[in-house]
Amino acid sequence: MSSLAKKITAILIELFPEPVVLHEPIFEGNEWDYVKQCLDTGWVSSAGKFVDRFERQLEEFTNSRYVIAVVNGTTALHICLQLAEVQQNDEVLIPTLTFVATANTVKYCGAIPHFVDSDEKSLGIDPKKLEDYLKEIAEIRSDICINKKTGRPIRAMVVVHTFGHPVDLDPLVELCNRYKLKLIEDAAESLGSYYKEGHTGNRGVLSALSFNGNKVITTGGGGAILTQDKNLAEQARHLTTTAKVPHKWDFMHDCVAYNYRLPNINAALGCAQLEQLPDFLTNKRLLAEKYNQVFCGVEGVVYFNEPSYARSNYWINVLLFNREYVDDLEAVLKQTNDQGIMTRPAWNLMHTLPMFSECPRMNLSMAESLRKRVINLPSSPTLFRELNQKSSRADDGEKNS
Ligand SMILES: Cc1ncc(COP(=O)(O)O)c(C=O)c1O
Repeated sequence: MSSLAKKITAILIELFPEPVVLHEPIFEGNEWDYVKQCLDTGWVSSAGKFVDRFERQLEEFTNSRYVIAVVNGTTALHICLQLAEVQQNDEVLIPTLTFVATANTVKYCGAIPHFVDSDEKSLGIDPKKLEDYLKEIAEIRSDICINKKTGRPIRAMVVVHTFGHPVDLDPLVELCNRYKLKLIEDAAESLGSYYKEGHTGNRGVLSALSFNGNKVITTGGGGAILTQDKNLAEQARHLTTTAKVPHKWDFMHDCVAYNYRLPNINAALGCAQLEQLPDFLTNKRLLAEKYNQVFCGVEGVVYFNEPSYARSNYWINVLLFNREYVDDLEAVLKQTNDQGIMTRPAWNLMHTLPMFSECPRMNLSMAESLRKRVINLPSSPTLFRELNQKSSRADDGEKNS
C-alpha cells in the first residue's frame, strides 16, 4: 500500500476504532409514541393526521409553499417530471454523476436522459460548461428548445444537490430561462441545505426530497414533492392519490394515476424525525469540521467543503483525491472496509450503465475524474456526538487509572 493510502487508513482507524456504517437512521425522539398512536387508532395507511402534519412541517422548514408527501424520492421525481410535461422522446438534461433514480425516472416518462458534466466546486452540474455546450447543440424553435443533432425537444433540466451540497443554481436558472427548459431540483439528499438564503428545492418548478433510511431524516421509505405553484400542487396531490374525485362513497377516477401517497405510519416517523433535524444538522456540521481538521495538510487529498455560496447539510462527507493519487483510492476503500469502516466510492456514472449507454451526452471529463477521486466517509446524524462521548470516556479512564 502507498504511503498516502496508509496515512488515510490510519487516520480513519484512529477516528473509528470500532466498526462504523456510512449513514444509519437515528430514532431518539417521539418515534415510538407517534407510531403507537397510528397502531392504537388504526390510522396506518394513506390518510391520517401525521401525513398532513408532516407536510405542513416540511413546508415550514423548507419555506416551500406546497409539499406533497409520497412513498419515496423516486416517485417524487417521477411526478415532478410528469408535471413538468416531459413527454415521450423528449430529452432531459441530467448530471451523469448522480444516483440512478434521476435517470430512471426520465425513462419512466418515455423520455431520454441527456448527460451533462459536473463542476469540481459543487459536484453538481457545471453551468459554464453546459452553457458552451448548449450554444453548440441547442436552438429555440417555436418556443421549444431543440437538440439540433437529434431533432428532439430538450424539455427540462434536473439538477442534483450532490451529497447534500447545493449546486450553483443562479446560472442554471438563467440557462433554463434562456433555453425554455423546466427546472427540476433533485433535492433528495439536501434537506437542510441552503443555496444563498433559500432552502434547496425552492427554485425548481417542482423538486423532490427523499426520506430513505440513509437520508438526513427518514420515514423508512418516503419522499416529497415541493412546489410554489398552487395548480401544480393540486395536480401533484391528485396524481399521487389515484386521481380519485372526492366523493363520500363513490369511486370515480378521472385519469390514469398513481398510488404514491405516503402512509400515515411513515409520516409519524417523519414528524418525530423533523423534531430532531436541527440537532442532526448541528452534529453533521461538527463532524464535517472534524474531518476537515484531521485531513487538513494531508498532501494528496482535500476534504470537500460546502461551496462558498451555500450552507450544506453535509449529508455524506466527501474526501477528494488529487489526480495523481487516484490509484490510492481503491486501497483505502479495501483497507477501511476490511476494518469495518464503511467507506464508498461515488456512484458509477449514469452513461456507463448498460441501459443508458446510448443516451446523448456532452464531454464528461470532470465527472469521469470525480468518479475516480471521490470517497464517501461515515456520516451518520449523531456520529460526531458519539465520537465525542467515546473520547471523553477515554479521557476519564486515563484520569482514573
Ligand atoms: C440524488 C437522488 N435522487 C433520487 C433518490 C431516490 O430517492 P428514494 O431512494 O427515496 O427513492 C436518491 C436517494 O436514494 C438520491 O440520492
